[in-house]
Amino acid sequence: MTESSSTSAHKPTAGQWERALSSEWLARGQEAYIRRQRYAINFATATVRFFKRMVTTPDAANDVVSQLRSALERCDELTFNETPDAFAYLLWHQIDRYHRVSQTLDRLFQLGILPLAKPGRPLRVLEVGSGPAPASYAAIDYYAVLADWAKSRSEVFQISSNTEAHTLDRGRAWQQIVHGLSEELLNIEDRQSLRERGPFRTRFFNITYPEFENFSPGQLHINARERMKREILDEDELWQFQLDTDYQDLNQYAATRVSPSAYDLIIVANFVTSSSMMDSFKAELENLANSLVPGGILLTLSGRNQKYKDLWKDYAALPHVNRLEHVVDEVMQAHQDPEVHGRVTRSTVSLLTHLEVLAEQGLDKAELPQDINEAMRLPLTDPSSIASVQAVTYPTFQVHGFVRRDRAISTRDRKRIAGRRGADADA
Ligand SMILES: C[S@@+](CC[C@H](N)C(=O)[O-])C[C@H]1O[C@@H](n2cnc3c(N)ncnc32)[C@H](O)[C@@H]1O
Repeated sequence: MTESSSTSAHKPTAGQWERALSSEWLARGQEAYIRRQRYAINFATATVRFFKRMVTTPDAANDVVSQLRSALERCDELTFNETPDAFAYLLWHQIDRYHRVSQTLDRLFQLGILPLAKPGRPLRVLEVGSGPAPASYAAIDYYAVLADWAKSRSEVFQISSNTEAHTLDRGRAWQQIVHGLSEELLNIEDRQSLRERGPFRTRFFNITYPEFENFSPGQLHINARERMKREILDEDELWQFQLDTDYQDLNQYAATRVSPSAYDLIIVANFVTSSSMMDSFKAELENLANSLVPGGILLTLSGRNQKYKDLWKDYAALPHVNRLEHVVDEVMQAHQDPEVHGRVTRSTVSLLTHLEVLAEQGLDKAELPQDINEAMRLPLTDPSSIASVQAVTYPTFQVHGFVRRDRAISTRDRKRIAGRRGADADA
């Protein structure tokens, strides 16, 4: 048992526990760090292998090359209904985003606001505008290692290692990608778990929801619950539910078997990219703010220029969002850890090299960024390629976090009431 858990007379809150242990949990080179790196290597390996297995002809490679520039600079213009768009996106962003989300979860842990679920129930994640679901893959790995770590140290907080991820995206190409990538991961993990017994990780094989317009977890939950109740009542098992006296039980029974109305963690990454999008999805974005369990957090990851500053300011001011506590407003540097930086860059270079070999006109059409071009010039096995890999730069990104503290009134109203109380006391 650790000092933090054994010496305190009272059980700490989850937040106190996280803050007290964060330097141990995040220490590089320690057991948890090594396991996290191994999972991240598996993820990068699966992504690269899957890509190479799917893009095998000059035509397929040319099609992906022709989308590389848009996928890097103007992905708003891509529908992701066709596979070349999706593979171009996967090449630049999948491994990069996985790490950005992991890094963000680390920050929540440091701040003592990472949501935790007790063993016995899954921790529920919703990824909105998920694309190939990097945040869901990252969260599943993160909680599996954290739960195992807490267990191996007999920590005062035991954590569910079961993360149930729901994804939402309308791009039709993502279904196939998520399915294939999860299978690739299972292949790698199966072989690995023959050698060592790691914690069980839930895998998902499709995109859960197809469209954000009119999306409301609460409404979906109610509709599904009512449908299930009707089904139960139509079936012979009616005797199981003493309708008059136990109606509540039937309600509860159905509620636990359908999609949840609330999540522990909602991640909206690189999805809301314009004020017109914010305006047209105001109601849906407010629904997200209403779809957190107590202690749950809604995270947004985005660029950090003035456009995004204005967007998130507007978002924070929406009435239902304003009821949440705005706990994170930070700019983070992607891939500060050299090990992560090297992995992200080398995976990208490996995929670009694969395309270069296959595509008839090479990568000329893609107009690659200068630093990536440099990193591609030397084979990755050449020792002097290390410097060019290290020279590749990644941008900073903006993170906002909104926590549900189970408060019935908004921050604005709370301040107003506190102000009025102060004035009354002074009078
Ligand atoms: C730039 S990608 C972000 C992917 C991922 N979240 C990330 O951070 O890498 C934006 C995604 O939002 C999806 N999208 C845009 N409008 C949507 C809508 N109305 N409903 C569902 N998905 C939508 C697109 O299909 C695209 O996959």
